[in-house]
Amino acid sequence: MTIRVAVYGAGQLGNGIMGVLAERPEIDASGPFGRRERVRALGSAADVVIVATTSFLCEVAPDIRDAVACGSNVIVSAEEAAYPWAVAPEVAKSIDEQARVQGVTVMGCGLNPGFAFDALVVTATGPAATVRSIQVSRTVDISRFGVTVLGRLGIGYSPTKFDEGLQKGLIRGHIGFLQSMRVVAAALGCTLEDTRSDMTPVFAEQDHELEAMTVRVGESAGFEQHDVGFIGGRPWFDAQFVAHVACASVGKTPRDEITIEGEPQLHFEIEPGLNPQSGSAAMIANSVQRVVVAQPGWLTVADLPPARP
Ligand SMILES: NC(=O)c1ccc[n+]([C@@H]2O[C@H](COP(=O)([O-])OP(=O)(O)OC[C@H]3O[C@@H](n4cnc5c(N)ncnc54)[C@H](OP(=O)(O)O)[C@@H]3O)[C@@H](O)[C@H]2O)c1
Repeated sequence: MTIRVAVYGAGQLGNGIMGVLAERPEIDASGPFGRRERVRALGSAADVVIVATTSFLCEVAPDIRDAVACGSNVIVSAEEAAYPWAVAPEVAKSIDEQARVQGVTVMGCGLNPGFAFDALVVTATGPAATVRSIQVSRTVDISRFGVTVLGRLGIGYSPTKFDEGLQKGLIRGHIGFLQSMRVVAAALGCTLEDTRSDMTPVFAEQDHELEAMTVRVGESAGFEQHDVGFIGGRPWFDAQFVAHVACASVGKTPRDEITIEGEPQLHFEIEPGLNPQSGSAAMIANSVQRVVVAQPGWLTVADLPPARP
């Protein structure tokens, strides 16, 4: 059976997803559709609508509602959609109810969130009889993101502008740790009591020419982010994230690492690290089949079997 897919969002990710889907004979994909073609995408009544536009639940919620109303399953790349109950439980509840009525599935997905700090972590706990705490660290090359994503991550700012951007909420670093931690906690039957996040910029000591922009000496070229989720007053999920537009210039190599503290202790390393662009496009393209056969409602990546080509 051919699966019809419509991709909304004509940026880097939307184009990447189309590139993967176009090679699949069992999939009839259209798009990526830009803002002006919103109705063609969301009103397509395709088996699966993929929304790859922004990071924020409040911005994608109307798009999800419209696609669900037309009977489509929906996959969303927005980081906040990976666990929508963390930022807007009432929105999550109403869309979950709408999806159940329509008999379709909604899921937030990508590489991160969607895999590196959640689905993969849940799988990694499998060989442990007990889990006391989890540490995940990721060093990632962010040089190939577009200017919107780079700006929101915190790249290309003077020290003063960086502080201003942080205070105004324009610079967010990586969005999604709260969601990933909640996905993992829910899968392991735990409840996070509190979370803490801090972020330190790394300023360029040389110019960096990127596809989307030039980062000048003295401007932010990367950052180190540390998020911790607490259970019982103790760190339960420790997430370390090092992002840079030129990892080698600061002596770093892209890599992913997961440590499960428990019985026994488990340690996993992935080198070179998971690619944020091709990895996200593949994760979403590889989720089309699993979303089509999933039970109705708003699900997380931990509710479904692993994504596969
Ligand atoms: N979960 C994950 O692992 C993962 C992975 C990759 C990306 N993402 C997220 O997915 C989003 C897309 O990523 P990207 O790399 O493709 O970004 P991008 O290159 O900046 O492209 C985003 C595209 O969506 C459009 N857009 C932005 N806001 C929109 C809105 N409210 N309604 C309709 N269209 C809108 C933009 O149009 P304009 O140019 O007109 O603004 C642009 O064409 C980003 O928020 C990114 O953080 C998540």
